[in-house]
Amino acid sequence: MCGIVGIVLGDQTQLASPELFNASMILQHRGQDAAGMVTNGNGGRLYQCKGNGMARDVFTQKRMTGLIGNMGIAHLRYPTAGSSANSEAQPFYVNSPYGITLSHNGNLVNGSYLKEYLDKEVHRHINTDSDSELLLNIFAAKLQNYNKARVNNEDIFNALKGVYQECRGAYACTGMIAGYCVFGFRDPHGIRPLLFGERTHPETGVKDYMLASESIALEAAGFTNLRDFKPGEAVIIPRDTMVPEFRQVVPAKTFTPDIFEYVYFARTDSILDGVSVYRSRIKMGEKLAQNINRQFGGLAKENIDVVIPVPDTARHSALACAGELGIPYREGFNKNRYIGRTFIMPDQKERVSSVRRKLNAMSLEFKDRNVLLVDDSIVRGTTSKEIVQMAREAGAKKVFFASCAPPIRFNHIYGIDLADTRALVAYNRDDEQVSKEIHADRVFYQDLEDLKEACKYAGVDDFEVGVFTGKYITGVEDRYLQELEKVRAQNQRIKEIAARREAAEAAGESTAIGFDDVMDVSAKAADTDIGLYNVGDYQ
Ligand SMILES: *[C@@H]1O[C@H](CO)[C@@H](O)[C@H](O)[C@H]1NC(C)=O
Ligand SMILES: *[C@@H]1O[C@H](CO)[C@@H](O)[C@H](O)[C@H]1NC(C)=O
Repeated sequence: MCGIVGIVLGDQTQLASPELFNASMILQHRGQDAAGMVTNGNGGRLYQCKGNGMARDVFTQKRMTGLIGNMGIAHLRYPTAGSSANSEAQPFYVNSPYGITLSHNGNLVNGSYLKEYLDKEVHRHINTDSDSELLLNIFAAKLQNYNKARVNNEDIFNALKGVYQECRGAYACTGMIAGYCVFGFRDPHGIRPLLFGERTHPETGVKDYMLASESIALEAAGFTNLRDFKPGEAVIIPRDTMVPEFRQVVPAKTFTPDIFEYVYFARTDSILDGVSVYRSRIKMGEKLAQNINRQFGGLAKENIDVVIPVPDTARHSALACAGELGIPYREGFNKNRYIGRTFIMPDQKERVSSVRRKLNAMSLEFKDRNVLLVDDSIVRGTTSKEIVQMAREAGAKKVFFASCAPPIRFNHIYGIDLADTRALVAYNRDDEQVSKEIHADRVFYQDLEDLKEACKYAGVDDFEVGVFTGKYITGVEDRYLQELEKVRAQNQRIKEIAARREAAEAAGESTAIGFDDVMDVSAKAADTDIGLYNVGDYQ
């Protein structure tokens, strides 16, 4: 999924890096895999700091002091398609033309075509399996076409038009051209979010401008007059004129934001494309309640004693659901926020599941009651199953499980790495089969139309809901989904072997991992990493 930021400060003596730091902390929930920022100021030089891990660990005080300049961009990476093994932290950088750096949130569906185009047509080397590197190089290649010593807004808009023509998928981006500007753009379907805001210095009247994935990052820094980018719209904020220029670069194809932002991903206090995430979650709870009551033939109250949320995302919906049903709401699960990774010896079976390490059921709230557990969604079903089991062990009589989202039966292809289709518990299963699978007495899903209704806003046409329907708004290349599953499987294997090796090393058993495994890892990594390089029969 990822979080992106861009900022230009009107006072050229001010530093952009502390602002980028603060925004990164606020957008941390959008990606904990890697963090990075690039700044630029009086000279042409770009200053960067990036690495794997959380923003607070990557952006240390010591590293931050070197990041000078009044403009910059930042990125928080969420692992897409399980490919964090081989990808670099963003923002990505290309030196030609002009020195461009880019942060991208989303996923492209015609990446294999773009790779080939970059190799055979414009001869650019791609060194990771990240779509973001493809996107940046397409932009650079288009901009290169004008073959000018100095860039201007017109060239950038034209180059972006080229990006829109080549790149299919979801993309919200912030970018920077050394010494010239910060820019931002959103895909022609508006799948991933991006907002713009301004801030006026109370004494000097000097203006600052900022771009971010979620409104809360802008609001927290005192930016106002927020506006969501329209699908196909871009902005350029040149450092010297400080006059933002917006342009509808290509006509919007549809305005269909990804509904998963509301279900699960975005922060509750954000407002995206005119819809409060909090309010949408309240409505999801109410609609879900009505649906459940219908399924009980109007007798939900007679069948359910208590509504208990699975923390944290589902809390607001669960409370609204309980209110609508007229059934008591109780916090039956206590969540431990301080669980990090655990330590497992090589031959030791994991004794307690990660769910149980994080959650504890309070018996008093479950004992001899028919409980309705409410979660934001059900993906693989393994967590849900464990939670149902915990409720039973705590003494619940009957355990009903409700999901604020409809059944997830398909891949998420625009940047939220859920699972392979076959690993989804609702894949090829109806409600009854799912409840059997997770050992619940009954499972209730949100109706898709109800979910859309809960997030509805006049400015938006519809939503991207491919995870529920299998119909994706941008269409998909024939082989894309198979490729995705292959990459996932390979990366899963790399992860497992790495974990085994780490555990063996920790136990002082350097020989625990066979040579075969190691060879296997490097072979697989290479094959998913660099698809094209200067070897092969292409003339
Ligand atoms: C960043 O956040 C901290 C704590 O909220 C605040 O004190 C500081 O002024 C902020 N910095 C900038 C540059 O906004
Ligand atoms: C995506 O890839 C196809 C080739 O599979 C190409 O023809 C097309 O121009 C690309 N871009 C878009 C926006 O569809």
